[in-house]
Amino acid sequence: MKPKLNLKGRNLLSLRDLADPEMLALLDLADHLKCEKALGIRGNRLARMSIALIFEKASTRTRSAFTVAAVDEGASVEYLGAHDIHFGKKESIKDSARVLGRMYDGIQFRGFKQQTVETLAEFAGVPVWNGLTDSEHPTQALADLMTIREYFHNLKGLKTVYIGDGRNNVCSSLMLICAMAGVDFVDCTPPELVPEAAALDQARAAAGRHGSSVSVCHDPMEAVRGANVVYTDVWVSMGEEKQFDERLRLLMPYQVNLPLMRRTGNLENDSVIFMHCLPAFHNHDTEVTRELGALEVTDEVFEASYSKVFDQAENRLHTIKAVMLATLTDGVGYE
Ligand code: CP
Ligand code: NVA
Repeated sequence: MKPKLNLKGRNLLSLRDLADPEMLALLDLADHLKCEKALGIRGNRLARMSIALIFEKASTRTRSAFTVAAVDEGASVEYLGAHDIHFGKKESIKDSARVLGRMYDGIQFRGFKQQTVETLAEFAGVPVWNGLTDSEHPTQALADLMTIREYFHNLKGLKTVYIGDGRNNVCSSLMLICAMAGVDFVDCTPPELVPEAAALDQARAAAGRHGSSVSVCHDPMEAVRGANVVYTDVWVSMGEEKQFDERLRLLMPYQVNLPLMRRTGNLENDSVIFMHCLPAFHNHDTEVTRELGALEVTDEVFEASYSKVFDQAENRLHTIKAVMLATLTDGVGYE
């Protein structure tokens, strides 16, 4: 039997809330839960619990993952659109947190400010999970690392290259989780979009524990040499829509395409995968790209066999379920 992973009562506001072994144990639990689900086994470990899902921003995967994970384990969820409830307008976040914490067993928050999720956690008295803020996306990073480990089996010695908006939520959390796992990380981004020094310092401190590296560079063709993971995200995150034209100008040279994937030197020996948190602009099929076509990744790469984007999306479910079970129960035992 594996030792039970018991994080009961803890929050997940940032990956900084987890010690490196706790983070890896969550991935082990997620692997186990994925096997259970494949075998048709549904648990009852959150029976009769109620989960609040607060959303200030849109979501397909995160909302669905929290909902299905809760229902799989016997809990019920309530979707609370931030515009439908009194949240920061007629009632302070602190008061809403104290009310919701008296009713729900756990609260997911997706929105703008990291400070909001921190205030919720401070006053709710029940576990609070960050489902994305402007600065972090910790549950995404857990699914990302699970997907990387599924493909390569081992993490140590791998090289992940993130290409695009090098200071956004997804990049920041990916950088930190790679560092926590001893995966070399390169943030390839224009000089205008480099991460904050504090985020880099934190990631480098984590990498230092494992003898791995975190670096920033500006040349995609140079960055991807020897990469095992090439990762990108949208160039304009939710809430930044006014910067669309500027980002297009800055980031078009950072598009992930076949010549860039070839440049890794690892395409022929199946030693590189493409990743994206989704949603992605890879063809003409969205309102935004109807005229422009592909932005951060070409369709050819997105649809290739080495693209693991839908494994990543599925793994949101298993990792979020692991987080909920670990923080809401006395731990899950398994072989
Ligand atoms: N990757 C991700 O968080 O997707 P959603 O915005 O659909 O939740
Ligand atoms: N960086 C993106 C991620 C979406 C899942 C955003 O914040 O919009």
